[in-house]
Amino acid sequence: MGAQELDAHQLDLTGLRRVYGRTGSRLFYTRVARNARHWGWTEPGQSKWRLWRAQRQLEDVLGRKLALPVGARVMDAGCGAGVVARAMAARFGLVVTGVDVLDFHLREARRLSARAALDDRTTFSWGDYHQLPFENDVFDGAYSMETLVHSYDPARALAEFHRVLRPGGRLVLLGPMSTVPLAELTPQARAVLEPYLDAMVFPGAKVYHARNLPQLLAEAGFEVEEALDATAYYEPTSEAVYAYFRLPWEVLRRFGDPARWLNLRSTVEMYAVREYIAWYVHTAVKPTPERAAP
Ligand SMILES: C[S@@+](CC[C@H](N)C(=O)[O-])C[C@H]1O[C@@H](n2cnc3c(N)ncnc32)[C@H](O)[C@@H]1O
Repeated sequence: MGAQELDAHQLDLTGLRRVYGRTGSRLFYTRVARNARHWGWTEPGQSKWRLWRAQRQLEDVLGRKLALPVGARVMDAGCGAGVVARAMAARFGLVVTGVDVLDFHLREARRLSARAALDDRTTFSWGDYHQLPFENDVFDGAYSMETLVHSYDPARALAEFHRVLRPGGRLVLLGPMSTVPLAELTPQARAVLEPYLDAMVFPGAKVYHARNLPQLLAEAGFEVEEALDATAYYEPTSEAVYAYFRLPWEVLRRFGDPARWLNLRSTVEMYAVREYIAWYVHTAVKPTPERAAP
């Protein structure tokens, strides 16, 4: 294990506050992304410019992969301002418990759920998904929408998801990852990618990648139902975001304080290494005792 991985084995709350709490980030997420802190899903033939539609479609993909009946209890690991939780409650009839480690995200999540009259079906509490504040076997489903990259110990997070799911419970993970282990990337790609992963507090992306995540899920006790490489559906969002924000970023970089605009910078700079980034939807099930391996 390298020094970077050892350093990564704790919750970097200061780093996460820097990523999500700076004025620039908050403005970006509240005004531009309308409180969603996730990418989008564009079907072939659809316009890439309709980012909000793409975000709603991505939430629908999650709801369909969860494939749970109305009233099922679901855990949202890294709920942010609760946009995904409310989508699951309003469009799929699920009862969602969100956890997050940022108090200002949780406050927003509660406020927006109350405003949408969805506070009876969405609740939010402080929790680090590496040590979830829940009993064993209590959820029918769990998901992580673009949050596992923040994990300082992905194997431990997956073990926690497994613990809180009932036998037969379903897990859906959505998010970006390196196509191959970082060690196999070209030095040029690593030189762009690694400072970005550090700045964005993405230690998980140094541990898992497209090749080993199914194995990590299996080691945590899951049966992997599907590892869907969905990059083609995410790429239109990457292209549109790059086109929208390249010039604003150049202006802010030259005349403003670049540190305040970390998220803007990352969306623009990531574009240069997009060929090494894949977007996946992993669906897995906690086996029932009779189906579990002996
Ligand atoms: C990219 S945002 C996604 C938020 C939300 N899922 C969405 O799609 O709008 C990542 C979220 O994960 C949260 N997070 C990071 N590490 C976490 C941890 N160890 N436990 C719980 N939440 C965490 C962050 O605070 C942030 O709200």
